[in-house]
Amino acid sequence: MILKKLKLRNFRNIEHCEIVLDPGINVFLGNNGQGKTNCIESVVFSSTTRSFRVTNDNAMIKHDCPFASIECTIEEDGKKTVLSSVIHSKGKSLFVASKQVPKASEFIGRLNAILFSPNDLEMFNISPRERRKLMDMEIGKISLKYNAALLKYQKCLKERNQALKMECDIILLTSLESQMVDAQLQIIESRRVFVEFLNQRLTHKMKQLCDEDLELGVRLKSWIDFSDKSKLRELMQQKYDETRERDILLKVTGNGCHRDDIEFTMKGIPLNEMASQGQKRMVLLAIKLCLIDFVRMTKKTSPVLILDDVLSELDQNNRIRLFQVLDKEVQTLITTTDLDELKESLVKSPKIFRVDHGIIR
Ligand SMILES: Nc1ncnc2c1ncn2[C@@H]1O[C@H](COP(=O)(O)OP(=O)(O)OP(=O)(O)O)[C@@H](O)[C@H]1O
Ligand SMILES: [Mg+2]
Repeated sequence: MILKKLKLRNFRNIEHCEIVLDPGINVFLGNNGQGKTNCIESVVFSSTTRSFRVTNDNAMIKHDCPFASIECTIEEDGKKTVLSSVIHSKGKSLFVASKQVPKASEFIGRLNAILFSPNDLEMFNISPRERRKLMDMEIGKISLKYNAALLKYQKCLKERNQALKMECDIILLTSLESQMVDAQLQIIESRRVFVEFLNQRLTHKMKQLCDEDLELGVRLKSWIDFSDKSKLRELMQQKYDETRERDILLKVTGNGCHRDDIEFTMKGIPLNEMASQGQKRMVLLAIKLCLIDFVRMTKKTSPVLILDDVLSELDQNNRIRLFQVLDKEVQTLITTTDLDELKESLVKSPKIFRVDHGIIR
């Protein structure tokens, strides 16, 4: 799949823009604060229906304007589809081929984008939340079933926590637990496959990127032992039976996949204790490159790779290797403040968009 055309209106500091992208490498070049990240944020929004920078959609509407709109024309096997989103004060409206879609799940993942943003480095710090977010977003983009199971789980979890805060109705609690168990069979299995996929490829990708044997490992740390799929339902049910009273006392659900985490290791030691800042950046890049393969394997299509602010922190050797590793078939959008950062790394000339005060040429 490639992104052919991007049309924006009142999106952050971009009043109007209409650009045709190259199927290869596209560079967004400009000084700080000109609108480069804004531009790629609009593409990521068209992939996930969310910003990767803010939780409040209204922040993406240009100041003093009533709405923002994004129109992405994607092409797959010669077939073009227009995906449009309008963000307004009352929410967002999503359209596929001019037809409004009532649910975000019908829109998400049609434009499949893999983003590298320096903010993602947070993922290796203390917060399991960021790691779960990555996992949920990436699996969610390729699996409607996963999204549906996750939504169902979150809804039941919320209801269970509300029930625990009120006078406790054991029948209600057990009924919600049973629904949570059903949803988790799907969630945990998808997460297991995802993590296993990363685990098998990460060390090799890292070696391609930095020419060092760094032995990376990824492991799903779940609240439940998922090694035997046939026993999973029973084990979960048993765990809820054992901990229900404690939950009633503490008024919160202590067990469930909302507490799962992914552990990254380097040479067997947690990455956070072991890796340098530069190495963490390279591991993150290696993860993103593995995700491209993940999308290809599961959806039989290539995603768009989006690299925000990646070059300035890489040394010249790593930059050269990155572009060597980037598959020629992957459409790439990359932001930079300085063309010199790119020049010597590239074999082929990229399409360059100059970004200046929200104007893209
Ligand atoms: N809702 C909005 N309306 C108008 N302008 C906005 C809005 N939100 C952000 N901006 C402006 O967008 C600009 C930031 O754009 P962006 O983050 O894309 O910069 P950038 O080109 O990526 O810069 P850097 O190289 O520093 O990352 C700022 O000037 C900011 O004031
Ligand atoms: Mg930026």
